[in-house]
Amino acid sequence: MPIARFRPRMYPEVEAFAKKLKWFGYVKEIVNWHSDTEIPGQRRRTTRALPGGCWVWLHRGRPVAFCGLRFLNRQDAWLYGMRVAKEFQNRGIARRFTKELFGVAADAGRKWVGINTYHYRDKSSSIYTIAGKLGMKLDAVHAVDVYWELPKSIRGPRPRPLPGIYERYSATGERALFFDDHGWLWYRLNAQRRKQVNRGGFAVVDTPVHIARYQRNGVTVNMLHRPRDFAEVLPSILSKATAKKKWLTLGYPAGWSRRVRRTVRELVPELKKGRNYWPSAWRVYGKYLG
Ligand SMILES: CC(C)(COP(=O)(O)OP(=O)(O)OC[C@H]1O[C@@H](n2cnc3c(N)ncnc32)[C@H](O)[C@@H]1OP(=O)(O)O)[C@@H](O)C(=O)NCCC(=O)NCCS
Repeated sequence: MPIARFRPRMYPEVEAFAKKLKWFGYVKEIVNWHSDTEIPGQRRRTTRALPGGCWVWLHRGRPVAFCGLRFLNRQDAWLYGMRVAKEFQNRGIARRFTKELFGVAADAGRKWVGINTYHYRDKSSSIYTIAGKLGMKLDAVHAVDVYWELPKSIRGPRPRPLPGIYERYSATGERALFFDDHGWLWYRLNAQRRKQVNRGGFAVVDTPVHIARYQRNGVTVNMLHRPRDFAEVLPSILSKATAKKKWLTLGYPAGWSRRVRRTVRELVPELKKGRNYWPSAWRVYGKYLG
């Protein structure tokens, strides 16, 4: 089989091809998160390797593709940082590699493997083709907007705890929920996550929102129920990013993005992309195993 566990001695070869592709920093982070040994040329920051591991695809014994596999919990796995060396692209390596990794996840007892990929409104991408060919389901298309250093004057009513948000989300047919945990990860809304999800249930004015605080300075808000009036709800949410060095990640169905972003611009006229705001939208695909 051409897949193998990534070993620290492979790092220079992986770096050589991954550096020529986009977002090499992300690949480095993933290697760090899953390593419990020193990687050449890398500064280790984690104290414990995250479960799952990094994998490579070998061609004549040499790594030509890389991918991280994260076991998010006992049911779910996540694939991230897939990179295929430029000269080996469009030969079906990413598709076959992904399929092999489904097998690794299934052998480890996982029932779902998720990926996310940039959402283009009117353009296709090789990942959409691969996901389709591998029978993955499109579980969510969510906008993910990040805010930081917003004006202190933004204030709204405090979110009130709201019991049973998991049940509310399940009733709407939502299948995935964005959590900010070491990067761009999503968990499936499955019954085993009920307690964890319910701990983050709040109401802002009358709108249910899910608030997760997984990093010291970052707050993630999932807004999956459409508010009656965005201008009524958004100040409370945006106020989470008014303190210095705090940031807010807001996830919501991509179909609302024009409305949300227009309202935010009205509330914060000085908002500037790259200076205190970064918008994007992502597709979450899931493979349901056996
Ligand atoms: C994205 C990437 C991993 C794909 O790897 P790959 O090995 O070339 O992919 P595969 O050959 O397995 O599959 C690509 C499929 O998409 C198709 N494809 C290529 N360009 C496409 C496009 N613009 N739109 C739709 N489909 C496209 C190919 O025809 C192929 O389908 P086929 O097998 O039916 O011919 C690789 O290009 C890469 O490393 N890119 C840079 C990093 C990156 O974007 N990673 C993904 C992060 S989510």
